[in-house]
Amino acid sequence: MAVTPVDLTNKKILITGPTGQVARPVVEALAKQAQVTALARFSDEAQKAELEALGVATVKADLADRNSLAGCPKDFDYVLNFAVVKSGDFDYDLKANAEGVGNLMSHCAGVKAFLHFSSTAVYEYAGHEPRKESDPLGDNHRVMFPTYSICKIAAETVCRFVAHQQSIPTTIARLSVPYGDNGGWPFFHLLMMKEGMPIDVHPEQPNTYNLLHAQDYIAKIPYLLAAATPEVTTTNFGGSQAVSIEEWCAYLSELSGFEPVFNPNPKAFGALQIDTTRMHELIGETSVDWRDGVRSMIQALAPDLIKS
Ligand SMILES: NC(=O)c1ccc[n+]([C@@H]2O[C@H](COP(=O)([O-])OP(=O)(O)OC[C@H]3O[C@@H](n4cnc5c(N)ncnc54)[C@H](OP(=O)(O)O)[C@@H]3O)[C@@H](O)[C@H]2O)c1
Repeated sequence: MAVTPVDLTNKKILITGPTGQVARPVVEALAKQAQVTALARFSDEAQKAELEALGVATVKADLADRNSLAGCPKDFDYVLNFAVVKSGDFDYDLKANAEGVGNLMSHCAGVKAFLHFSSTAVYEYAGHEPRKESDPLGDNHRVMFPTYSICKIAAETVCRFVAHQQSIPTTIARLSVPYGDNGGWPFFHLLMMKEGMPIDVHPEQPNTYNLLHAQDYIAKIPYLLAAATPEVTTTNFGGSQAVSIEEWCAYLSELSGFEPVFNPNPKAFGALQIDTTRMHELIGETSVDWRDGVRSMIQALAPDLIKS
Protein backbone atom coordinates (compact mmCIF):
# COMPACT_ATOMS: atom_id res chain seq x y z
CA MET A 1 0.00 0.00 0.00
CA ALA A 2 1.25 3.47 -0.87
CA VAL A 3 2.55 5.66 1.94
CA THR A 4 0.47 8.59 3.22
CA PRO A 5 1.98 11.78 1.74
CA VAL A 6 3.40 14.40 4.10
CA ASP A 7 1.69 17.80 4.18
CA LEU A 8 4.05 20.49 2.88
CA THR A 9 1.76 23.42 3.68
CA ASN A 10 3.80 26.19 5.37
CA LYS A 11 6.72 23.81 5.92
CA LYS A 12 10.33 25.03 5.72
CA ILE A 13 11.85 23.38 2.68
CA LEU A 14 15.41 23.65 1.38
CA ILE A 15 15.78 22.95 -2.35
CA THR A 16 19.27 22.62 -3.81
CA GLY A 17 19.90 22.91 -7.55
CA PRO A 18 16.83 25.18 -7.86
CA THR A 19 17.81 26.71 -11.18
CA GLY A 20 18.16 23.33 -12.89
CA GLN A 21 15.82 21.75 -15.39
CA VAL A 22 14.28 19.35 -12.88
CA ALA A 23 14.03 21.50 -9.74
CA ARG A 24 12.87 24.76 -11.26
CA PRO A 25 9.20 23.67 -11.68
CA VAL A 26 9.32 22.21 -8.16
CA VAL A 27 10.46 25.55 -6.72
CA GLU A 28 7.66 27.35 -8.57
CA ALA A 29 5.02 24.91 -7.31
CA LEU A 30 6.20 24.69 -3.70
CA ALA A 31 6.77 28.44 -3.35
CA LYS A 32 2.97 28.77 -3.52
CA GLN A 33 2.37 26.59 -0.44
CA ALA A 34 5.54 26.40 1.66
CA GLN A 35 8.48 28.47 2.91
CA VAL A 36 11.10 27.64 0.30
CA THR A 37 14.83 28.34 0.51
CA ALA A 38 16.86 27.76 -2.66
CA LEU A 39 20.57 26.91 -2.52
CA ALA A 40 23.03 27.06 -5.42
CA ARG A 41 26.35 28.65 -6.38
CA PHE A 42 24.27 31.21 -8.33
CA SER A 43 27.07 32.10 -10.70
CA ASP A 44 24.25 33.77 -12.64
CA GLU A 45 22.86 36.50 -10.35
CA ALA A 46 19.82 36.98 -12.60
CA GLN A 47 18.63 33.45 -11.78
CA LYS A 48 18.89 34.25 -8.07
CA ALA A 49 16.81 37.40 -8.55
CA GLU A 50 14.19 35.41 -10.54
CA LEU A 51 13.73 32.98 -7.65
CA GLU A 52 13.56 35.78 -5.10
CA ALA A 53 10.78 37.34 -7.19
CA LEU A 54 8.81 34.12 -6.57
CA GLY A 55 9.06 34.77 -2.82
CA VAL A 56 11.86 32.25 -2.32
CA ALA A 57 14.78 32.87 0.08
CA THR A 58 18.17 32.19 -1.49
CA VAL A 59 21.49 30.91 -0.13
CA LYS A 60 24.63 31.20 -2.21
CA ALA A 61 26.83 28.20 -1.42
CA ASP A 62 28.94 25.55 -3.11
CA LEU A 63 28.18 22.07 -1.77
CA ALA A 64 31.81 21.15 -2.49
CA ASP A 65 32.88 23.63 0.18
CA ARG A 66 31.32 22.89 3.57
CA ASN A 67 32.45 26.24 4.96
CA SER A 68 30.24 27.95 2.40
CA LEU A 69 27.20 26.39 4.13
CA ALA A 70 27.87 28.44 7.27
CA GLY A 71 25.31 31.06 6.17
CA CYS A 72 22.61 28.47 5.43
CA PRO A 73 19.88 28.00 8.08
CA LYS A 74 19.55 24.51 9.59
CA ASP A 75 15.98 24.42 10.83
CA PHE A 76 14.31 22.96 7.75
CA ASP A 77 11.49 20.43 7.86
CA TYR A 78 12.49 18.87 4.56
CA VAL A 79 15.44 18.99 2.15
CA LEU A 80 15.18 18.19 -1.57
CA ASN A 81 18.66 17.73 -3.04
CA PHE A 82 18.59 18.24 -6.80
CA ALA A 83 22.06 19.82 -7.12
CA VAL A 84 24.36 18.15 -9.60
CA VAL A 85 27.49 19.15 -11.44
CA LYS A 86 29.06 17.46 -14.47
CA SER A 87 32.15 19.57 -15.17
CA GLY A 88 34.14 16.51 -16.25
CA ASP A 89 36.77 17.16 -13.55
CA PHE A 90 36.65 14.09 -11.31
CA ASP A 91 38.14 15.81 -8.25
CA TYR A 92 35.64 18.65 -8.26
CA ASP A 93 32.62 16.63 -9.38
CA LEU A 94 33.13 13.97 -6.69
CA LYS A 95 33.61 16.68 -4.10
CA ALA A 96 30.48 18.62 -5.12
CA ASN A 97 28.18 15.68 -5.82
CA ALA A 98 29.30 13.05 -3.31
CA GLU A 99 30.97 14.94 -0.46
CA GLY A 100 28.42 17.67 -1.21
CA VAL A 101 25.41 15.57 -0.19
CA GLY A 102 27.32 14.62 2.97
CA ASN A 103 28.07 18.26 3.76
CA LEU A 104 24.43 19.14 3.24
CA MET A 105 23.01 16.30 5.36
CA SER A 106 25.45 16.99 8.19
CA HIS A 107 24.42 20.63 8.11
CA CYS A 108 20.67 19.87 8.22
CA ALA A 109 20.76 16.67 10.28
CA GLY A 110 17.58 17.52 12.21
CA VAL A 111 15.20 17.39 9.23
CA LYS A 112 12.02 15.29 9.23
CA ALA A 113 13.11 13.80 5.89
CA PHE A 114 15.86 14.22 3.30
CA LEU A 115 15.12 13.45 -0.36
CA HIS A 116 18.13 12.88 -2.59
CA PHE A 117 17.61 12.78 -6.35
CA SER A 118 19.77 10.20 -8.06
CA SER A 119 19.56 8.82 -11.57
CA THR A 120 18.99 5.56 -13.41
CA ALA A 121 22.42 6.41 -14.90
CA VAL A 122 23.75 4.45 -11.89
CA TYR A 123 22.71 1.13 -13.51
CA GLU A 124 24.94 -1.01 -15.65
CA TYR A 125 23.57 -1.38 -19.17
CA ALA A 126 21.54 -4.58 -19.44
CA GLY A 127 19.62 -4.41 -22.71
CA HIS A 128 15.86 -4.40 -22.48
CA GLU A 129 15.58 -5.85 -18.97
CA PRO A 130 13.74 -3.34 -16.74
CA ARG A 131 16.18 -2.29 -14.02
CA LYS A 132 15.37 -3.17 -10.40
CA GLU A 133 16.85 -1.24 -7.48
CA SER A 134 18.99 -4.27 -6.57
CA ASP A 135 20.47 -4.65 -10.07
CA PRO A 136 24.18 -4.16 -10.77
CA LEU A 137 25.51 -0.62 -10.95
CA GLY A 138 27.85 0.62 -13.66
CA ASP A 139 29.49 3.55 -15.42
CA ASN A 140 26.49 3.94 -17.74
CA HIS A 141 26.82 7.53 -19.03
CA ARG A 142 30.61 7.62 -19.45
CA VAL A 143 30.48 8.35 -23.18
CA MET A 144 28.67 11.66 -22.87
CA PHE A 145 29.27 12.68 -19.23
CA PRO A 146 32.54 11.12 -18.02
CA THR A 147 32.07 11.81 -14.29
CA TYR A 148 28.29 11.48 -14.03
CA SER A 149 27.47 7.84 -13.22
CA ILE A 150 30.44 7.42 -10.89
CA CYS A 151 29.51 10.62 -9.04
CA LYS A 152 25.86 9.61 -8.74
CA ILE A 153 26.87 6.20 -7.32
CA ALA A 154 29.33 7.84 -4.93
CA ALA A 155 26.70 10.38 -3.88
CA GLU A 156 24.20 7.63 -3.05
CA THR A 157 26.80 5.92 -0.87
CA VAL A 158 27.70 9.08 1.02
CA CYS A 159 23.99 9.83 1.42
CA ARG A 160 23.37 6.38 2.97
CA PHE A 161 26.44 6.70 5.19
CA VAL A 162 25.36 10.01 6.69
CA ALA A 163 21.72 8.89 7.04
CA HIS A 164 22.85 5.80 8.96
CA GLN A 165 25.39 7.67 11.10
CA GLN A 166 23.02 10.47 12.02
CA SER A 167 19.63 8.69 11.83
CA ILE A 168 18.25 11.00 9.14
CA PRO A 169 15.07 9.68 7.48
CA THR A 170 16.10 9.56 3.83
CA THR A 171 14.82 8.56 0.41
CA ILE A 172 16.98 8.17 -2.68
CA ALA A 173 14.90 8.52 -5.86
CA ARG A 174 16.57 7.33 -9.07
CA LEU A 175 15.08 9.52 -11.79
CA SER A 176 14.50 8.16 -15.26
CA VAL A 177 13.85 10.88 -17.89
CA PRO A 178 12.27 14.03 -16.41
CA TYR A 179 10.61 16.48 -18.78
CA GLY A 180 7.89 19.10 -18.78
CA ASP A 181 6.83 22.46 -20.12
CA ASN A 182 10.38 23.75 -19.51
CA GLY A 183 11.99 21.08 -21.69
CA GLY A 184 13.82 17.79 -21.38
CA TRP A 185 15.34 15.15 -23.62
CA PRO A 186 12.40 14.87 -26.08
CA PHE A 187 12.60 18.61 -26.70
CA PHE A 188 16.26 18.29 -27.71
CA HIS A 189 15.21 15.51 -30.06
CA LEU A 190 12.61 17.79 -31.65
CA LEU A 191 15.24 20.49 -32.22
CA MET A 192 17.57 17.89 -33.77
CA MET A 193 14.77 16.68 -36.03
CA LYS A 194 14.07 20.26 -37.11
CA GLU A 195 17.74 20.73 -38.09
CA GLY A 196 17.94 17.28 -39.75
CA MET A 197 20.63 16.25 -37.25
CA PRO A 198 21.11 12.50 -36.75
CA ILE A 199 19.96 11.19 -33.37
CA ASP A 200 22.31 8.59 -31.91
CA VAL A 201 20.45 5.54 -30.65
CA HIS A 202 21.77 2.24 -29.34
CA PRO A 203 21.48 -0.50 -32.01
CA GLU A 204 19.55 -2.73 -29.57
CA GLN A 205 16.29 -0.99 -30.32
CA PRO A 206 13.82 0.11 -29.11
CA ASN A 207 15.56 2.44 -26.63
CA THR A 208 13.02 2.41 -23.83
CA TYR A 209 12.89 4.75 -20.82
CA ASN A 210 10.21 6.03 -18.42
CA LEU A 211 9.46 9.66 -19.25
CA LEU A 212 8.43 11.44 -16.04
CA HIS A 213 6.42 14.63 -16.37
CA ALA A 214 7.08 17.55 -13.99
CA GLN A 215 3.45 17.49 -12.86
CA ASP A 216 3.95 13.90 -11.70
CA TYR A 217 7.30 14.36 -10.00
CA ILE A 218 5.99 17.42 -8.15
CA ALA A 219 2.90 15.46 -7.05
CA LYS A 220 5.01 12.52 -5.82
CA ILE A 221 7.47 14.51 -3.67
CA PRO A 222 5.24 14.37 -0.53
CA TYR A 223 5.02 10.58 -0.98
CA LEU A 224 8.77 10.19 -1.43
CA LEU A 225 9.33 12.23 1.75
CA ALA A 226 6.81 10.05 3.60
CA ALA A 227 8.73 6.95 2.47
CA ALA A 228 11.98 8.19 4.08
CA THR A 229 13.56 6.07 6.82
CA PRO A 230 16.96 6.24 8.55
CA GLU A 231 17.73 2.87 6.90
CA VAL A 232 17.20 4.75 3.60
CA THR A 233 14.56 3.92 1.02
CA THR A 234 15.96 3.64 -2.49
CA THR A 235 13.46 3.63 -5.34
CA ASN A 236 13.32 4.05 -9.08
CA PHE A 237 11.40 7.16 -10.05
CA GLY A 238 9.97 7.39 -13.55
CA GLY A 239 6.68 7.47 -15.38
CA SER A 240 4.52 4.38 -15.03
CA GLN A 241 4.44 4.08 -18.84
CA ALA A 242 7.55 2.80 -20.58
CA VAL A 243 8.21 4.61 -23.86
CA SER A 244 11.09 4.51 -26.30
CA ILE A 245 13.05 7.28 -28.01
CA GLU A 246 11.83 5.76 -31.27
CA GLU A 247 8.17 6.08 -30.15
CA TRP A 248 8.43 9.62 -28.83
CA CYS A 249 10.29 10.75 -31.94
CA ALA A 250 7.55 9.19 -34.11
CA TYR A 251 5.01 11.19 -32.12
CA LEU A 252 7.12 14.36 -32.42
CA SER A 253 7.14 13.71 -36.15
CA GLU A 254 3.36 13.35 -36.19
CA LEU A 255 3.05 16.70 -34.38
CA SER A 256 5.67 18.68 -36.28
CA GLY A 257 6.10 17.01 -39.66
CA PHE A 258 9.90 16.73 -39.08
CA GLU A 259 11.33 13.25 -39.65
CA PRO A 260 13.85 11.78 -37.20
CA VAL A 261 17.13 10.50 -38.65
CA PHE A 262 18.38 7.72 -36.35
CA ASN A 263 22.04 6.86 -36.22
CA PRO A 264 22.51 3.44 -34.58
CA ASN A 265 25.67 3.77 -32.49
CA PRO A 266 26.85 1.12 -30.01
CA LYS A 267 28.33 3.93 -27.91
CA ALA A 268 24.98 5.70 -27.43
CA PHE A 269 23.22 5.32 -24.07
CA GLY A 270 21.22 2.10 -24.25
CA ALA A 271 17.68 1.39 -23.09
CA LEU A 272 17.15 2.05 -19.37
CA GLN A 273 13.61 0.99 -18.63
CA ILE A 274 12.86 0.79 -14.91
CA ASP A 275 11.12 -1.91 -12.96
CA THR A 276 8.29 0.06 -11.35
CA THR A 277 7.30 -2.53 -8.70
CA ARG A 278 8.83 -0.82 -5.64
CA MET A 279 7.90 2.64 -6.88
CA HIS A 280 4.25 1.68 -7.35
CA GLU A 281 4.11 -0.01 -3.93
CA LEU A 282 5.47 3.10 -2.22
CA ILE A 283 4.09 6.07 -4.11
CA GLY A 284 1.53 4.72 -6.58
CA GLU A 285 1.27 5.24 -10.33
CA THR A 286 1.97 8.45 -12.23
CA SER A 287 -0.88 10.10 -14.09
CA VAL A 288 0.34 12.15 -17.08
CA ASP A 289 0.08 10.24 -20.36
CA TRP A 290 3.39 10.75 -22.18
CA ARG A 291 1.69 11.91 -25.40
CA ASP A 292 -0.19 14.64 -23.51
CA GLY A 293 3.01 15.66 -21.73
CA VAL A 294 5.04 15.85 -24.93
CA ARG A 295 2.37 17.83 -26.76
CA SER A 296 2.06 20.25 -23.83
CA MET A 297 5.86 20.71 -23.78
CA ILE A 298 5.94 21.69 -27.46
CA GLN A 299 2.94 23.94 -27.01
CA ALA A 300 4.77 25.73 -24.17
CA LEU A 301 8.19 26.01 -25.80
CA ALA A 302 7.70 26.05 -29.55
CA PRO A 303 4.01 26.29 -30.47
CA ASP A 304 4.91 27.26 -34.06
CA LEU A 305 6.35 23.79 -34.61
CA ILE A 306 3.02 22.05 -34.05
CA LYS A 307 1.39 21.26 -37.40
CA SER A 308 -1.32 18.91 -36.20
N1 LIG B 1 17.86 16.27 -16.37
C1 LIG B 1 17.73 14.96 -16.49
O1 LIG B 1 17.39 14.45 -17.58
C2 LIG B 1 17.98 14.05 -15.31
C3 LIG B 1 17.83 12.65 -15.46
C4 LIG B 1 18.01 11.81 -14.36
C5 LIG B 1 18.36 12.34 -13.13
N2 LIG B 1 18.53 13.70 -13.00
C6 LIG B 1 18.92 14.23 -11.67
O2 LIG B 1 18.05 15.30 -11.32
C7 LIG B 1 18.76 16.26 -10.55
C8 LIG B 1 18.65 17.63 -11.21
O3 LIG B 1 19.24 17.56 -12.50
P1 LIG B 1 19.14 18.77 -13.56
O4 LIG B 1 19.27 18.16 -14.91
O5 LIG B 1 17.96 19.61 -13.25
O6 LIG B 1 20.48 19.57 -13.24
P2 LIG B 1 20.99 20.93 -13.91
O7 LIG B 1 19.98 21.47 -14.86
O8 LIG B 1 22.39 20.67 -14.41
O9 LIG B 1 21.06 21.93 -12.66
C9 LIG B 1 21.99 21.72 -11.64
C10 LIG B 1 21.66 22.61 -10.46
O10 LIG B 1 22.60 22.34 -9.40
C11 LIG B 1 23.24 23.58 -9.00
N3 LIG B 1 24.62 23.24 -8.62
C12 LIG B 1 25.58 22.73 -9.43
N4 LIG B 1 26.71 22.56 -8.75
C13 LIG B 1 26.49 22.98 -7.48
C14 LIG B 1 27.30 23.07 -6.32
N5 LIG B 1 28.57 22.70 -6.35
N6 LIG B 1 26.76 23.56 -5.18
C15 LIG B 1 25.46 23.96 -5.16
N7 LIG B 1 24.64 23.89 -6.23
C16 LIG B 1 25.15 23.41 -7.38
C17 LIG B 1 23.14 24.47 -10.25
O11 LIG B 1 23.21 25.86 -9.94
P3 LIG B 1 24.63 26.66 -9.92
O12 LIG B 1 25.38 26.25 -11.15
O13 LIG B 1 24.26 28.10 -9.88
O14 LIG B 1 25.31 26.23 -8.66
C18 LIG B 1 21.74 24.10 -10.75
O15 LIG B 1 20.76 24.78 -9.99
C19 LIG B 1 20.19 15.74 -10.44
O16 LIG B 1 20.34 15.02 -9.26
C20 LIG B 1 20.31 14.82 -11.64
O17 LIG B 1 21.31 13.82 -11.43
C21 LIG B 1 18.36 14.55 -14.05
